[in-house]
Amino acid sequence: MSEWVAVCDERDYELMGRVARSLDASAEIELVGTSDALRRTVFEAVPGELGAIVGQVDGGVADVNLAAAIAHDGNARRVVLARHGVSGSLRSRAARAGIDDVVDLDEGDGGPGGGVSASDGGRLAQSSDCPPGPSARLSPGREGAAVLTFCSGRGGVGKTSIVAAFAAQAQRWGMRACMLDLDLSCGNLFSCFGLPRGTDLSRLAEGGDLGWSASGLSVAVTPLLGLAGPCERPESAELVSPYVAKVISALARECDLLLVDTSTTLTDAAAQAAQLADRLVIVSDDRPGGAAALARVGGLAVRLGVARTRIARLENRASPRRGANLALGRAEVGLEVARVYRAFDGGGEAADLLAEGLALELPDSGGPFAESVAISLAQMLAELGRLPACEEAARAAEGSTAHRRPTLFGLRREAR
Ligand SMILES: Nc1ncnc2c1ncn2[C@@H]1O[C@H](COP(=O)(O)OP(=O)(O)O)[C@@H](O)[C@H]1O
Ligand SMILES: [Mg+2]
Repeated sequence: MSEWVAVCDERDYELMGRVARSLDASAEIELVGTSDALRRTVFEAVPGELGAIVGQVDGGVADVNLAAAIAHDGNARRVVLARHGVSGSLRSRAARAGIDDVVDLDEGDGGPGGGVSASDGGRLAQSSDCPPGPSARLSPGREGAAVLTFCSGRGGVGKTSIVAAFAAQAQRWGMRACMLDLDLSCGNLFSCFGLPRGTDLSRLAEGGDLGWSASGLSVAVTPLLGLAGPCERPESAELVSPYVAKVISALARECDLLLVDTSTTLTDAAAQAAQLADRLVIVSDDRPGGAAALARVGGLAVRLGVARTRIARLENRASPRRGANLALGRAEVGLEVARVYRAFDGGGEAADLLAEGLALELPDSGGPFAESVAISLAQMLAELGRLPACEEAARAAEGSTAHRRPTLFGLRREAR
């Protein structure tokens, strides 16, 4: 006998039993009421004791993300995604996320054991929800990721926080995303994800062969999200400059979205990332001196040859009660054509999640910060023609987000 635990829509309760038995005849299945309960039950079980079956939940948008999260937790004996209408891209996305099996509930003859057929993750089939859209719709002549480089000209405006929040949101939409920490001497992007370190890019200069591939240059934060950089020793940072362009193109080849964080001072590494970006996003906040910092960075970007149409502004810690501060981009600053995005102040909760290494929980935390991040990211991607074919992303591009239930971690935090 083997034990399985499952979550699904009410109408599929009976089918889940058949799914389990189609996978193994002696299956015992227990159904739980929510996605969070499923993840928690598997997470807290003896490693390898339970198999997890993720049926269609929340209208099907989130089920593949839930299955990917359980696979990533690493505690399940086997992770199965069971849903109506399985597409080829869903199968390949599930395989990439480490999901063991994808079962199409619409297949089979509907007799005993019918209505269900299992196949392994490597040969999985197409969903209208969150297939890995961007790689399928690259603009002609341009391969690889959309590259967004974030800079500011002053510290503490939230570049690192925005990169972390964008990355968490992108991978939630099923995008293969990678972060590159070019704050080479002091970067702390890894800590937003609870990692002890990133990768040491100075090894490139020391002749160390990281391999010019995403897996050599970056660490996996989740199956869909990688992180490259910064340098282990601050004094080695300047040795990395000659390799930055090559690092960016190697990473961009293997993902849908590359997010580049930079240091406060515009180093040579940051300048290269600005030149290679599809969008150079200048992050600002409304502390005094913001206009001067914007003018400095905007002017430098233009002198570096970054087209004004490729420069965007992001006002961080904005207030939902006020509109964008367009005066900040006025003619003397030179950014009057730059599109303005906004990320709202997330208060202590967003800062705490980042400080505790729980950036992946930001999209589920709800509230104005998470929602404004989703909207800004979706609108930037839409402008670049790289919006993932995902209902949530499409809604965000139109400026609205659905209310989300708190996650396992959200519930735990509330229970404290
Ligand atoms: N929108 C926001 N809401 C709440 N706190 C934020 C927001 N953006 C940044 N912070 C907090 O501000 C501090 C500085 O942000 P950080 O991302 O490190 O800035 P930078 O990388 O530009 O130096 C961090 O403690 C971060 O958690
Ligand atoms: Mg930073």
